[in-house]
Amino acid sequence: MIPGEVSSWAVHIKRIIPPLGKGVVGVGVVLETIELVKTFGSLRAVDRFSMNIKPGEVDALIGPNGAGKTTFINLITGVLMPDSGRIRMDGRCLLGLSTHERARLGIARTYQIPKPYPNLTVLENVLVSSYYAARLKGEEAMENSIEALNYVGIYDLADKLAGELNAEQQKLLDFARALAARPKYLLIDEIGAGLSLEELDALAAKIRGLAKRGLGVLYVGHIMRMVKNVADWVVVMNEGKKLTEGTYDEIASNEDVIKIYLGERRA
Ligand SMILES: Nc1ncnc2c1ncn2[C@@H]1O[C@H](COP(=O)(O)OP(=O)(O)OP(=O)(O)O)[C@@H](O)[C@H]1O
Ligand SMILES: [Mg+2]
Repeated sequence: MIPGEVSSWAVHIKRIIPPLGKGVVGVGVVLETIELVKTFGSLRAVDRFSMNIKPGEVDALIGPNGAGKTTFINLITGVLMPDSGRIRMDGRCLLGLSTHERARLGIARTYQIPKPYPNLTVLENVLVSSYYAARLKGEEAMENSIEALNYVGIYDLADKLAGELNAEQQKLLDFARALAARPKYLLIDEIGAGLSLEELDALAAKIRGLAKRGLGVLYVGHIMRMVKNVADWVVVMNEGKKLTEGTYDEIASNEDVIKIYLGERRA
């Protein structure tokens, strides 16, 4: 399902992602969340949670079911408004901006449960992103879309109706759609379930390839093999709060993490 060599992805992605301007990567350039709080009734789904997503890095956010990870992504993208806290992108406050405005500033996401347009083809789904998120036209939009499909490795599905894809293929389409938006920051909410180990590792290489091109990537997920392969830094969330953070090796050997997260996986 995922053909191609890293070298060919690199060629594609160089064209998908516009080169970052001089001085863009540096101090103060970061997607920053500070002390975010989001409650649903009496439940504190996100509880004074702070985390930075940096250009050129993959940060992983892990935690048990219901920890607040998707809610955190919804706060960054503007689907939900926080009760309190701050969100800044490259120094600019994002609160008060709509989801569309945040997308146009360069924040793209994938969905835990993707929602493609089922009656459009795979290519048409990605074209929507090229037109409306990346604001490209004509041939440029087409080229951008094809490159995103190639990068993700699903170009062979281009003419298939999105509604006919299986769950894993829909996830990859969602990934291609997010890339076609030409983001600066990409928030990935669970990807890789159902893939073989080989496909999983290929996907991890693609995610790392994005960071190499200068994107800031947040990888949210449960698949520890993926976390190990992609993450420069791992943050562990539990009951809306930051439990701990560190390198993969630090996290994997942390007793509290093993208890609340890895322990759950082993059960
Ligand atoms: N719109 C909502 N209304 C009420 N409660 C919600 C809403 N969205 C999320 N929650 C609750 O907030 C908590 C955090 O949910 P969230 O989906 O963010 O967890 P998660 O870490 O993404 O979990 P998973 O690993 O299962 O995807 C859960 O208890 C969930 O039931
Ligand atoms: Mg979730």
